[in-house]
Amino acid sequence: MSDFTNGNSKGLIMDHSDTVWDELIFFVNGKKISEKHADPEMTLLTYLRRKLGLTGTKLGCSEGGCGACTVMVSRYHPHLGRVVHHSVNACLAPLCSLHHCAVTTVEGIGSVAGKLHPVQERIAKAHGSQCGFCTPGIVMSMYALLRNKPTPRMTDIEEAFQGNLCRCTGYRPILEGYKSFTKEGGCCGGKSKENGCCMTNGSGTNGALTNGHTEDHVNDNSTLSTSLFDPADFMPVDPTQEIIFPPELMSLGKLQVSGRQLRFRGERVLWVQPASLQGLLDLKAQYPNAKLVVGNTEVGIEMKFKNLLYPVILAPAYIAELNSVQHTKEGIVFGACCSLTQLGEVLREEVGQRPPHQTEIFQAVLEQLRWFAGLQIRNVAAIGGNIVTASPISDLNPVFMAASCKLTLMSRGGKREVRMDDTFFPGYRKTALSPEEILLSVEIPYTRKGQYFSAFKQSPRREDDISIVTSGMSVTFVDGTTVVKDLQLSYGGMAATTVLAKNTTSKLVGRQWGEELLQDACSSLAEEMTLHPSAPGGMVTYRRTLTLSLFYKFYLTVHQKLAADGMGKGVRPDFASATEIYHHATPTSVQVYQEVPSGQKEDDVVGRPMMHLSALKQTTGEAVYCDDIPLYENELYLALVTSTKAHARILAVDVSEAEGMPGVVSCVLAKDVPGSNQTGPAVCDETVLAEDTVTCVGHIIGAVVADTQVHAQRAAKAVKVTYEDLQPVIVTIQDAIANKSFYEPVRTIQRGDPDQAFIQADHVLEGEMHMGGQEHFYLETNCTVAVPKGEDGEMELFVSTQAATKTQSLVAKALGVPSSRVVVRVKRMGGGFGGKESRSTLLSTVVAVAAQKLKRPVRCMLDRDEDMLVTGGRHPFYGRYKVGYMKTGKVVALDVTYYNNVGNSRDLSLSIIERALFHMENSYHIANVRGTGYMCKTHLPSNTAFRGFGGPQGMMITESWMEDVAMSLGLSSEQVRRLNLYTQGDSTPYNQVLEHPTLESCWEECLQRAQYGQRRAAIQDYNSQHRWTKRGLAIIPTKFGISFTALFLNQAGALIHVYTDGSVLLTHGGTEMGQGLHTKMVQVASRALGIPSSKIHISETSTSTVPNTSPTAASASSDLNGAAVHNACDILNKRLEPYKTKNPTGCWEDWVRAAYFDRVSLSANGFYKTPDLGYDFATNSGRAFNYFCYGVSCSEVEIDCLTGSHKNLHTTIVMDVGTSLNPALDIGQVEGGFMQGVGLYTLEELRYSPQGYLFTRGPGMYKIPAFGDIPTDLNVSLLRDAPNNKAIFSSKAVGEPPLFLAASVFYAIKDAISAARAESGLSGPFRLDSPATPDRIRIVCEDRFTKLCPPAQPGTFIPWAVQV
Ligand SMILES: Cc1cc2nc3c(=O)[nH]c(=O)nc-3n(C[C@H](O)[C@H](O)[C@H](O)COP(=O)(O)OP(=O)(O)OC[C@H]3O[C@@H](n4cnc5c(N)ncnc54)[C@H](O)[C@@H]3O)c2cc1C
Ligand code: FES
Ligand code: FES
Repeated sequence: MSDFTNGNSKGLIMDHSDTVWDELIFFVNGKKISEKHADPEMTLLTYLRRKLGLTGTKLGCSEGGCGACTVMVSRYHPHLGRVVHHSVNACLAPLCSLHHCAVTTVEGIGSVAGKLHPVQERIAKAHGSQCGFCTPGIVMSMYALLRNKPTPRMTDIEEAFQGNLCRCTGYRPILEGYKSFTKEGGCCGGKSKENGCCMTNGSGTNGALTNGHTEDHVNDNSTLSTSLFDPADFMPVDPTQEIIFPPELMSLGKLQVSGRQLRFRGERVLWVQPASLQGLLDLKAQYPNAKLVVGNTEVGIEMKFKNLLYPVILAPAYIAELNSVQHTKEGIVFGACCSLTQLGEVLREEVGQRPPHQTEIFQAVLEQLRWFAGLQIRNVAAIGGNIVTASPISDLNPVFMAASCKLTLMSRGGKREVRMDDTFFPGYRKTALSPEEILLSVEIPYTRKGQYFSAFKQSPRREDDISIVTSGMSVTFVDGTTVVKDLQLSYGGMAATTVLAKNTTSKLVGRQWGEELLQDACSSLAEEMTLHPSAPGGMVTYRRTLTLSLFYKFYLTVHQKLAADGMGKGVRPDFASATEIYHHATPTSVQVYQEVPSGQKEDDVVGRPMMHLSALKQTTGEAVYCDDIPLYENELYLALVTSTKAHARILAVDVSEAEGMPGVVSCVLAKDVPGSNQTGPAVCDETVLAEDTVTCVGHIIGAVVADTQVHAQRAAKAVKVTYEDLQPVIVTIQDAIANKSFYEPVRTIQRGDPDQAFIQADHVLEGEMHMGGQEHFYLETNCTVAVPKGEDGEMELFVSTQAATKTQSLVAKALGVPSSRVVVRVKRMGGGFGGKESRSTLLSTVVAVAAQKLKRPVRCMLDRDEDMLVTGGRHPFYGRYKVGYMKTGKVVALDVTYYNNVGNSRDLSLSIIERALFHMENSYHIANVRGTGYMCKTHLPSNTAFRGFGGPQGMMITESWMEDVAMSLGLSSEQVRRLNLYTQGDSTPYNQVLEHPTLESCWEECLQRAQYGQRRAAIQDYNSQHRWTKRGLAIIPTKFGISFTALFLNQAGALIHVYTDGSVLLTHGGTEMGQGLHTKMVQVASRALGIPSSKIHISETSTSTVPNTSPTAASASSDLNGAAVHNACDILNKRLEPYKTKNPTGCWEDWVRAAYFDRVSLSANGFYKTPDLGYDFATNSGRAFNYFCYGVSCSEVEIDCLTGSHKNLHTTIVMDVGTSLNPALDIGQVEGGFMQGVGLYTLEELRYSPQGYLFTRGPGMYKIPAFGDIPTDLNVSLLRDAPNNKAIFSSKAVGEPPLFLAASVFYAIKDAISAARAESGLSGPFRLDSPATPDRIRIVCEDRFTKLCPPAQPGTFIPWAVQV
């Protein structure tokens, strides 16, 4: 390696080979760091967490897609001459890019013990933190925004959060808490406390997003409230308290302009930051294969996920010429390193200043930037990076190509200018740059009069998503006419490169902009923009249709603009909405709940909206998650080796190369399992480590254990497995049906005589529906730290699991030791949702085996892609149904068969198909029913529990036939559903009589709160006036049975220790995953013991305190553990009773001390089992459930018939949670569950190849709902006066039941599609599978454009992805 030194040698260090490397100097939270061994492959996140122990910043994905790792990076920008503060993804930011930067993490802005920052306090108090794993990232996005804009607008907040995901809250409370910082919702921050806060004294809205609606007393005993927190408690914002930018960095930053080259060297990579353009060109000549890295948002992904190694990295970010912005006669020239944020700022300013006809292209770029990644990415990603990456789905390249932008390329040999046309991208991810060249700048031209320009991006999710099809379109007319002089249509997503539709445009030059041109353009585009039916990315018919639909939008938009310029008649009013650019309206919401009775004691917190007990710690990063546990001395890291084949025999596993790699300590294979290699949560049909065959891609074969994560992961990739393919490979439910590949037993529930009833029914219809699975996407992936104790085979495990006992027993089995030697401890999880109920043991058993083998602590936190690959998700379902019904719409007979895609092991699938059957009638009384459930055995990773546990799948198919019945009769679906609703005294198909069903009350309240009648009328009106956008409405009920269907699980334990100072340590069998279980348990104990909640502490869940616990699942944990806690309190109360009687004026501490001195035990175990349960499939008798939860929701949506996108306009939910234990937590569960359902039914799609390979392995390809997906108007009401005598303090379960209510969004979409189909003369039932993604919506909205792009004949090609 040659020496790159130039300039002075201050700050340089020598390595052992006498080569001089630089010292990286930066600040973290105000403290100076001088890193002598900065590794170019290390990210800022790893450095913060592992080197500095700052674990507040979280790892959620490593790919810039979730925002959990957001920090603020401040630097002196020499080219702007000021300090800039940006939110940045620490998971992508290379450590070496931070020289002379100041990093602020969540720990740097506040702490619980010290002082909280208002951004931390407000999100917590507004109940915007559930599991808290996303919270530090959200806090830092907000903090960075406030540093730049002390009083932002709501739109600024929405923009700031485009790159942040939360899987728990449903986002509403986060926006609500933060609205208090904005111009629109600004709060005095309690400053005017004496006169009351501005938010409570009438001058502001109470609860920032509420629409000001408050509810009065219903009667003397019952008050409804719409306020879940009191903004008067908020601390004021004090910008003077912020950490200042270190003065030292200011002067160093100024020096950097004329500074010197810097070099950092790691194990495999050299990082050079050239001091000048010339220096960069020289280096590029010397190292033509060197990668330029600016934002690292492409290169970082390539290195992490594609296993690419770039030995030399050149970092040109500070070079003046590459950062300049110059205005020329033709347009604006942007240096290639200008960030996308800067690009947006400059263009926005220009658009504000110049006449509109000059800025058509600028506006198009801005429109693309609106939907380009999240702000954290745009803050660092460079314009040049986007161009040179040459991605076929780049969002900017189609615009630059249609605009024929001028690119300046430069090498040591000189400069050249090229136009971006179809020759610039000679192939997939290739450009016309020679290896020695760099991109210097891009010129974005002004438009001229007579030129019209648009850009379009269609992606599965609107915010922060990559395109399916993206486009730039430009037309120039012969002066004063509508005759086309020049037309450029550029598309991304239709080939291996960005392309121009040259054949089409060449035919259209010289033609009038009119209907004939449109027709010819569409026919020609349909021919020119073809795709092979097997094309990567799939959705081929949709993508082809989009090219036409987007052109049509352009066609109409141009007509509109021509008319505005005095040419032509414009666009028919009913077509105009096709030209509208999407504008997100700031959401409003109302939450209504019943306040506690007026006489309730102040310190009795049951029923009050008490904040999640860990919320404040979660906002400061102090809450400890599994991977935040400090490293043990001698600790090792484990990486998994998984199968790349769905069904194969393992011929050999060669670990020789891996074992020789740096840091590697050992490899672990099946032979290393000391106990039993057979495992499984219900039946032992799995292996800890595969022995001779693999039965899914992702099957765990072995593991590599090394000193660090990177070493372990690199070596795991070097393990070579040789396979022999086995047949068959069964991936889909249809494959399984064809091969009769089912697990036993086949379950059936039958009541009445459906066959006879079909004969007597007025009508019979048949149908089918497929419903896709769902990835849990808990923000914290699976994690285990296993610590062998060194004696008697003891081991302590820290695990992110919902099932401590199951983990304990399966680890003990694998280790061959009794369960008593294994302690499993769970502090908290960053989300679970069922995904950590059984599949978490896949990892914990392997980590335990490795720790046992090596006698050292071993840790592993799965990367997001591994977690998604290995741990399965919600079961996809396919349902076939036959329904008999009367003219009125009354359903009299149902025969339904469910098939669920179980995967390669049984896991919990039997209980899941059973729950689907238990919910096959949803909320409707049907006299004659037969339901059959088949578990399909396939070669996919085993699917598992997921919020709702088969219920949401079972009920979804119910609503499909309900919709079919209504459509076939031409009746309103609301009327048909209402007619069939259960009423008091009805019994279910499994013969359980419904006691006090509250469905009707929920239904009526929902209709009224949603103003259903007016809404329906307004929709009809809207639809008659809009051809290309349609609105739809649906009201959907739910009934959800509460109990584990496996009888023995309906038990719980608790342990309470009272110490002599009166403090109480509470433990129970449930785990905390964000749902607020610990908070509710403290509330229960507080009331039961009659002491303030502040005296009660929960530390963790552990198998050594409460044994034999059921998983925290089935929504039943508050019921079960709450009753066990109550039982323990009762025991303690009885023991304390004599001391209270003796000293009635004494206090809790007095009684406790007296009891202690009297030698009375102050520790008690509580226990509870649900009484009178036990259903028998053989006799269809016995109680399956303790009780039922009910709810109803009504949603309104708007679809874009041309693109298939939809907007969630309105949702009203009325949910029966009994007498709420904690309305804030319960509403949080309702909204969070609902939004997870919105993801399930409209957005989230797991995409598998026909060979069982999962493509969707991270937030880049798998889209959960984002901030922008919440309904514009969201109203949640907890049903009042609905006590439930079957659970603790009259409450009801809440975790799972609300999820299904999101089906109202799906069926509202279906309603809107019906309106669109009516325009093409189509009526009656039609099939719409779930999720209702844009491609599904678009394809069923049949019209002239879909006709031009018929799908390829099934069976004539192998699709890229299959519906599993
Ligand atoms: C979460 C996420 C979301 C994203 N969303 C979108 C999206 O919505 N739309 C979209 O189009 N893209 C998207 N991207 C892709 C990416 O952000 C962009 O392509 C970005 O503009 C790349 O810029 P960068 O500075 O980070 O590139 P880097 O990763 O730093 O570099 C990318 C490539 O460009 C080369 N390069 C950079 N500058 C020069 C130069 N001056 N001369 C020669 N070569 C150069 C590098 O050598 C490298 O090959 C997304 C990426 C992520 C991680
Ligand atoms: S961990 Fe960085 S964005 Fe997800
Ligand atoms: S609170 Fe946001 S992911 Fe859990």
